[in-house]
Amino acid sequence: MRATIAALSETASFVRYHAVDVRDAGALRAVVATIYAERGRIDGVVHGAGVCEDKLLRDKTPESFERVFSTKVDGARTLAGALRPDLGFLVLFGSVSGVFGNRGQVDYSAANDALDTCAHAWARRFRGRVVSLDWGPWGSSDPAGRGAGAGEGTGGGMVSAELERAYAQRGIGLIDPDAGVAAVLRELAAADVDDPQVVYMCGSPDAFDARA
Ligand SMILES: NC(=O)c1ccc[n+]([C@@H]2O[C@H](COP(=O)([O-])OP(=O)(O)OC[C@H]3O[C@@H](n4cnc5c(N)ncnc54)[C@H](OP(=O)(O)O)[C@@H]3O)[C@@H](O)[C@H]2O)c1
Repeated sequence: MRATIAALSETASFVRYHAVDVRDAGALRAVVATIYAERGRIDGVVHGAGVCEDKLLRDKTPESFERVFSTKVDGARTLAGALRPDLGFLVLFGSVSGVFGNRGQVDYSAANDALDTCAHAWARRFRGRVVSLDWGPWGSSDPAGRGAGAGEGTGGGMVSAELERAYAQRGIGLIDPDAGVAAVLRELAAADVDDPQVVYMCGSPDAFDARA
């Protein structure tokens, strides 16, 4: 995060990092209100908060399901309720897991599917584009590997070495981080496109049908 802030500071006129638990609706609303009060407007929001607690359904607890689901969905709903209609864009980070399902991820799949539904429902709520981007697995932008699979795989963020292997067995590769960022920018720049849900993955959708 420090490296990201340092990189942003080189080009942005102003950078501030607010730490907030997105499941705490009051605290999240307060951050949004502070930004409106201090800066006068919010042009764009990317909701990327998420947690994975993968287990087979029989081993899940309601508390774990709630953590995984609410981080994505309650966070998004609180944001959508606090943001003004003049918002330029709202990007929700979803997953192919919400589109195709994934072993051990019933909570994460449900959360990402709900995000897609939210994007469709909110498509006309704001001035700018609302889009749920359903990502396949990303590679790491850190060659040493810094995600859940650090030291083992080459996946970034929450892509563990095990998940990376499972995707690879189905012929699904990792998204190059630069290409992923370029895809987000392309989506936001495309004036004539307003799909509320877009899937990005390095592989064929058939890969999800072929699994055991
Ligand atoms: N990496 C992929 O291949 C991939 C694929 C599909 C979708 N996605 C989606 O992309 C997003 C980012 O994933 P990632 O791989 O970068 O995961 P990550 O490295 O695990 O990052 C998740 C981020 O969410 C934040 N977060 C978790 N719970 C939070 C909460 N209650 N309040 C506020 N922030 C919270 C974490 O903050 P702290 O570190 O401070 O806890 C962290 O910055 C997620 O929504 C994920 O579902 C990722």
